Amino acid sequence: MLHRRKSGEEKEKEYMFTPDSSTTPLFGSSESDHILPRETINDNAINPNIAYQLISDEMMHDGNPRYNLCTFVQTYMEPEAKQVMVDAIATNAIDKAEYPQTTEVEKRCVSIISDLWNAPKDEEYMGTSTVGSSEACMLGGMAMKFRWRKRAQALGIDINAKKPNLIVSSGFQVVWEKFCVYWDVELRELPMKSLEELYLDPKAAVAACDEYTIGIVPIMGITYTGTFDDIVALDKAVEEYNKTAKISVPIHVDAASGGLYLPFVNPELVWDFRLKNVISISTSGHKFGLVYPGLGWVMWRDKQYLPEELLFKVAYLGAFEPTFQINFSRPGSQIWAQYYNFVRWGREGYKAVHEKSRDVGLFLTKGLEKLEIFKILNSGENIPIVCWMLKADEKRAWTEYDLADRLRYYGWQLPAYPLPKNLEDVSIMRVVVRADQSMEQISLLLKDMKDSIDYLNEHVTVKKDVQKTEDTVVGYSHNEKRYKK
Ligand SMILES: Cc1ncc(COP(=O)(O)O)c(C=O)c1O
Repeated sequence: MLHRRKSGEEKEKEYMFTPDSSTTPLFGSSESDHILPRETINDNAINPNIAYQLISDEMMHDGNPRYNLCTFVQTYMEPEAKQVMVDAIATNAIDKAEYPQTTEVEKRCVSIISDLWNAPKDEEYMGTSTVGSSEACMLGGMAMKFRWRKRAQALGIDINAKKPNLIVSSGFQVVWEKFCVYWDVELRELPMKSLEELYLDPKAAVAACDEYTIGIVPIMGITYTGTFDDIVALDKAVEEYNKTAKISVPIHVDAASGGLYLPFVNPELVWDFRLKNVISISTSGHKFGLVYPGLGWVMWRDKQYLPEELLFKVAYLGAFEPTFQINFSRPGSQIWAQYYNFVRWGREGYKAVHEKSRDVGLFLTKGLEKLEIFKILNSGENIPIVCWMLKADEKRAWTEYDLADRLRYYGWQLPAYPLPKNLEDVSIMRVVVRADQSMEQISLLLKDMKDSIDYLNEHVTVKKDVQKTEDTVVGYSHNEKRYKK
């Protein structure tokens, strides 16, 4: 601790520090002579500078997020964006009356996103920010369930005879399983057919529908591989089904990844509210919306698709502002950061940032192909998610899991994981290319990968018996099934 400067005869002592608990050596303090509290809180307060040092050292153990190649969430924002987030950190987005400008900015973002998703001008869109896609998917699912229940009752369907159901491909992210468990809905999971068909089969989806179907959820950017479901074909199939169905089936698009990528890079691709049966869409602002975690968005094409029971009215500046989130308090930072990004980048800027990520992804794919041992499952052409597996080779004794372990040695976090139902014997690796990744970073990764492969070829010569069980760990999948050798 630095002490007050003395004057006069005391001046000679001005550089003398009173001994306290943080003198020598570097990083030394009496507090650092102890391990940090684990089970019970410490008795006394400590200086903030020492607390900061101890905590930031502890944080280092997480590794460098920018070397986390599999995460979808942003690992870099500009200093100005960070400042915006810090400036808003003390605001509470739910306090509509106290922070009216946060509410206003959220509304602007909802309007911008619904325009990017081509919300029809003759309908009244509604939308909200959420903590992430998970909360957004939950809200989309709840709206479908409540709306189904009301319509089913009006049509004289016995709503208690069976559980309502939701249709999704086995490439679903765990949130849909959670939604079905939490809200007592049957998850009708349609297996993806083969490695060449990693998407929902529209005909099978419609064939699985009945009077208890609350909706179908196609995915724009399947978590495992980055592949897209064909929503135009699904919309057509649903349109046909609905012509004779007792109760019509809607579509909610889980666009966690694609939602804030496609409108900029491939606006001609039709997947959004241009399709009649798409009633709601969710996305993550913290993925290709380029905001630090956690932010999501959910939109309904018209207010009729968001049942009244889900709206709560909060007094706001003399008027009543509807809210429909699951969470209550959270900082306004992410909302402001999303708005900062919209203002900062505009349509052209977002396009340029995303196209650069796509080019880096394609560069990675080329490099992987040159290694000649991988089969590419997604090149990153559609969205910067590159996904691959080892080609079959009887002589090779190591697996994708060994390669993932070896890459850890260089600091890369690039896990291997099994594909879902029907394809669970296939293990893959995936890189989500984000805005802060460069050709240079990928060229370093490719070099480390080559060295790792050489090492494994030399040192791992006897095949291990890989037994996959759910309580053992090495890789992981987004459906939380964990496997170990
Ligand atoms: C398709 C899909 N849906 C939902 C989610 C959940 O997203 P979040 O982490 O924003 O809650 C993810 C996350 O990867 C995803 O890929």
